Formats: sequence, C-alpha cells, structure tokens
Amino acid sequence: MAFTMFGRTIRKIGVIGSGNIGPDIGLHFSQNLYSFGVPVVVVDILQAALDAGSKKTESKMVKAAERGIFKKEEADTIFKNMLFTADYGKLADADFVIEAAFERMDVKHKIFDQCQVTCPKTAIFASNSSHMVPEEIFQKREDKGRCLVIHYFFPAERNVLVEVVPGKDTDPGLTEYLMKFYEYIGKAPIKVKSRYGYAVDPIFEGLFLATVLTVEKGLASIKQADAIASKTLGMGVGPFTAHNLAGGNPITQHGLSEMNTKIMPWYRSPKILDDQVKSGKPWETAGKGEVVEYSPEIYEAVSNRIMGAYFGMACEIVESGITNIGDLEMALDVGLVMVPPFGMMNRVGVKKALELVEAYAKENSGFKIAETLKKQAALGQPWKIPVVFREDKGDVALVKIRRPKVLNALNENVFEQLREIFINIQKDPKIQGAVLTGFGTRAFVSGADIGMLASQKTPEEAEAFCLKSQGVLNMIENLGKPIVCAMNGLAFGGGNEMAMACTARIAKKGQKIFVSQPEPRLGIIPGNGGTQRLPRLVGMEKAWPMLRNANPISSAQAKEIGLIQEEVEGDLIEVAINWVKKIGSGEVRVPMIKKDPIPIPSKLPEVDIGHLSRKIDFLLQRAVLEGAKMTLEEGLKLEAKIFGECLLTQDMKIGIENFMKNGPRVNANFVHN
Ligand SMILES: NC(=O)c1ccc[n+]([C@@H]2O[C@H](COP(=O)([O-])OP(=O)(O)OC[C@H]3O[C@@H](n4cnc5c(N)ncnc54)[C@H](O)[C@@H]3O)[C@@H](O)[C@H]2O)c1
Repeated sequence: MAFTMFGRTIRKIGVIGSGNIGPDIGLHFSQNLYSFGVPVVVVDILQAALDAGSKKTESKMVKAAERGIFKKEEADTIFKNMLFTADYGKLADADFVIEAAFERMDVKHKIFDQCQVTCPKTAIFASNSSHMVPEEIFQKREDKGRCLVIHYFFPAERNVLVEVVPGKDTDPGLTEYLMKFYEYIGKAPIKVKSRYGYAVDPIFEGLFLATVLTVEKGLASIKQADAIASKTLGMGVGPFTAHNLAGGNPITQHGLSEMNTKIMPWYRSPKILDDQVKSGKPWETAGKGEVVEYSPEIYEAVSNRIMGAYFGMACEIVESGITNIGDLEMALDVGLVMVPPFGMMNRVGVKKALELVEAYAKENSGFKIAETLKKQAALGQPWKIPVVFREDKGDVALVKIRRPKVLNALNENVFEQLREIFINIQKDPKIQGAVLTGFGTRAFVSGADIGMLASQKTPEEAEAFCLKSQGVLNMIENLGKPIVCAMNGLAFGGGNEMAMACTARIAKKGQKIFVSQPEPRLGIIPGNGGTQRLPRLVGMEKAWPMLRNANPISSAQAKEIGLIQEEVEGDLIEVAINWVKKIGSGEVRVPMIKKDPIPIPSKLPEVDIGHLSRKIDFLLQRAVLEGAKMTLEEGLKLEAKIFGECLLTQDMKIGIENFMKNGPRVNANFVHN
C-alpha cells in the first residue's frame, strides 16, 4: 500500500535520528499515514537512543488511548507501524527521508551520503535542522532538486507548525507538493526562504536574549523577567522555563552567536547564557504554583523592552523577504503559542510600537529598525494581516481562508479580505472563475467568530452587521464567474451560508459531521442567508428541520438532498478546479438558486426542537416562512432585521454566554424552552 496523492507516491518514510525529536516526527507520520499502509522507519546509530525512542513513543500511544484520542487497537497499530532500527538498509524503499540527528554540518553531510547510496534516486531528502540553510546541508548532493529543510517544532507530533525551507536549487514542484502534503496530514506549513534560523527561531531565541538582557541589566531577577515576558506575550511559560523544559541552552547559545553575523549584530550569546551552558544547570525559575512578585515599575521596564525587541525582530524578518506578515503571524500563534506581533502592534498602535523599537535600538547597539515599520507608523495605519489568500492556478483563482486556531471562523477581517479578493477576481480578465476553500482538513469554515456576534449591542447594530456580511456573500453569488466551494471539512453556520452563496459545492468524502445551522443553540437565527438560501436550494421540507433543530448532517446526506454536487475522494482542489472549468465552458450546468418567492407546502414536517428556545424558534419560523414569500433579496433583508430582534430576547444573551463558557456541547438553559 502507499499514499498516492498530489501527483506523487510515498511507500515508506524514514526518520534519521532517534533523539529528542526524531521519534515524535516519526509518530506524527505514523498517526496520519498508517491507514494508507505507509510504514515509518526510525534509524539511529545508537541502540540506546533507539530503545529510548521506541519506549517514549509506545508510552505516548498508551496515554493517547487512555485519553480516548485513539482507540486502543488504533494506538497499537500506529506504534507497530514504526520500526526503530540501526539498519540503514531498511530505507532502501523509503520515498521520503527526514534527518533529525545532531545539529552538526559534518554529521548531516555523512547521513545524506549514506542515504544517497541506500535510498531510491527519487526519494525526498529533508533535514530538520534548526538553523542551517539547505544550500550548505546539501552542498555535496548532485541532485539538489529533491533536497530541502523541513523544520518541526516541539512537541513535533502535536505542534502543527512546520517551516518548509527550499534551497535555491530545490525543485519548486517538490516544495508545492510538500505544502499540500503537510496540510493534508494536519500540519500548518509555511514556506520560508533560505536564511540562517529561518523565520521563527530568530524570534524564539531572540526573545530569550531580550529577556536575559533585562536580567543582565539588573532590571529584574530571572524569575521576574521570565514571568513578565510570559505575561507580556501571552505565553504558557516564560523563555527561561521553556529553555529548561526543552534543554535548549546549548542550541540557543550556538544559534544566537551565528545570528550575530547572519542576521544583525544585536544577536549574540550573552555572558550569563555562556556561564549557564558551562555549568550545565537549569535556570532558577519559579516552582509550581509559586507567585512571582514585581512592582509596576519593574513590569513596565521589562515589558517595554520585550515588546520593543519582539516588534523589531518581527519587522526585520518580514523586511528581509524570507516570509510575510500573514505566515509569520500564524506561525507564532500556532507554533510558539504567543500573541502574534503584528496584531499586537495594531492594538498597541503602530506609532507606539515604533517608539518601543526605537527606544530598544537606542539602548542596544546593533538592533535594526526596519524601514517598513517606520513607513507604517508614518502612514498612521494598522498593519494588514492576511487571513484570506489567493493563488492563481492557470485561469482559476484558488481562494483560501486560513485561521487554523479557530477552524477558519469568519470575522470582519475575513469578510473584508474576501470582498477585496473577489472584486479583483471579477475584474481580472485572465481569471474565468474561482475555488473557495478553507485551510486544513477539519473545517471549511467553523462558523462566525463568536466574539464578533457577542459584540453586537443593539438590534439596529446587529441588523447592519448582517447586511454588511450578506453583501459580501451576495457579491460572490452574483460575481458573473463560477465560484465552486471546495468543502475540505465541516461547514457550520456562516460556513454553510458562505458555501450556499457559491455556484456549486463539492466536499471531501465521508464526513460524518459536515453541515449544520447551529444558530438556535446560541439563541440566534442564521444571519448570512441561511433562512433564505437553504430552503431555496434543497426545498422547504428538507430545510425546515435542519434550520430548526440545529442538528448536523453528513456529507453523504448533503449530497442526497442536493446541497452539494459531489463527494470527492482524493485531491479536492483539483476536482474543484475542473468543476469551475466545466461550468465555465457550459459542459456542466448547476441550477441557479431561485431568486423569486418559493412555494410553502401545506404541511411541513413535525420538528422536535428539544431544549432549544421557543422564542428564538418563533423568530426563525417567521424568517423562513415570510422570507419564502419574498424575493431572495427581500428575504435576506428580513432575515437581517429578525436577527437584530434576537437581541431583544434574554435567550440570545444566555445562548452566547453559554457557548463562550462551555463550548458547543453543553445545552444552554434558555428561559423560553
Ligand atoms: N529537539 C527539538 O525540539 C528540535 C526542534 C527543531 C529542530 N531540531 C533539530 O533536530 C535535530 C535533532 O535534534 P534532537 O534534539 O533530537 O537531537 P538529539 O541530540 O537529541 O538526537 C540526535 C540523535 O541523532 C543520532 N545520530 C547522530 N548521528 C547519526 C547518524 N549518523 N545516523 C543516525 N543517527 C545519528 C544520535 O545518536 C541521537 O540519538 C537537530 O538538528 C536539531 O537542531 C530539534
């Protein structure tokens, strides 16, 4: 068996190095590819390392089964799908090899010499180096097209971030393949140009340096600086604690020294880090539950410096051109789990951010102030942070919503960027249509951002808010070019409403929980056309229970009732692009949504609304039944108005508060149920 998708076949995966991270990289592959029959081989030269790696992996899978993340048999199979061996010969049929051995150039050269002899001539060669550029790691390889860096983050089986770093000779087709492959197996990959440390480690290690420097300057103790850095940037643990946990002092010491000449002279290994590495001891951080005290003055002194360094480093990295604001923002959010810098600068104010960076540069020689930051501050505008991306595939634009932490939930930023992108698509004579999709494999769009719903203050405000986002969907619907929604995962609430505004919908096959209009659970009604477009697309009888009981349906059911055109096995985007072409050429016709009033059957099915609010259900019924007697345009306006009326009920407050506190699984205790 094998994993064949996106134009390549992978029969076996090899991971070289069974130290801290190698087994975790292997485990992630095994978890995601065992069902395709792709075994994972972990090779090390030390039997002790292999034994330790195998033991750690087995215990992780035992725990995963205990916690119900995997069924017991599944967990066993995933572990048994991995082989820990000292025999490089086992890589003879590996189509993808990733090296995670010592961070030493000579070791990496030697390993790939060996792989060149052992592995197939077409195998992908990747290094999980933390810093080193692919041009140097693979300098001895003649066929550099298949070589690149793929940088994982701790803990590699759970942390979704990977940096994909092609060298100047890496085949761009391979890079594109790996971006799709990693997204498919549940990672959030970013493509980074080759530079020492890539995009993320100069920030991770640089923040450690900035924190250490506040201690060296006598502004705070290690415990205080650690706690203040963690609070300032919303990190789970401070930089000192993080280094203790990952045993990261030596690697950061080395990285910071190299960045001095390779990035900017501010980077260096500070004396107390050198001393600590020499002693081999961990930092003296706060014990579990220990409260660290500091005065407001200490907090401000440390926090301002941390922010100055953070903003300055982020702008330098983007200005260097190796990455962009959208990718760096997502990477720091999901990979390092800290408040991402550009959004933070927008909240602090870009002018104020520049002041903090200038103050930092004044005090720290060799710290660069990026020109882009000066320009942005002079403009007096916030940074634009992309969350919707357009990539043209010939004459079809691929539009992707990417907010992995919230499963691509819709907020004002998403709507605004969609509007801008679709206006450009409409005007672009080279583009015949578009595919609209979401990032990852779990969700197309999980719904509307709950914070955005909660921030509506009056019925009028809520009505205007609906009309505005409806406007974007109306624009998509009436673009004059085919838009096919590639539903890569579930589509709840606003997600389904957005899909229904597209010309056609196709979905990844076999989704048990796929589409729902869960609004009544939150004490609201759909506000982006759900009450109007669903009955028009699938008929009133089928839409009636879906809208009122808020229960999800599967992708197979969605196909059966005509909500989607196709369930797809394999490459969803490729199939979606074909749909756009076929609709564009007239080869396939998809019925247009009815814009006139639609008939209401004399008898509608009985619906058990269970624990849901009767008051909200009453409003919902009004929107659906009165809207059916109107044109689609009028019906949408009515829906927005009734959405606003939900604000007058106590149940909306109860529903939203319950959702924010307990998530979607706990029923709200509505007054009117
Ligand atoms: N640990 C992390 O969190 C992390 C994160 C990102 C990247 N990295 C990078 O991943 C790589 C591995 O890091 P680590 O922390 O697991 O290192 P480690 O020192 O814990 O493990 C390295 C392993 O490689 C083995 N090895 C050495 N030479 C070998 C050879 N010729 N053939 C096969 N195995 C060999 C060693 O025996 C050892 O078990 C490094 O390049 C590091 O910079 C590590």
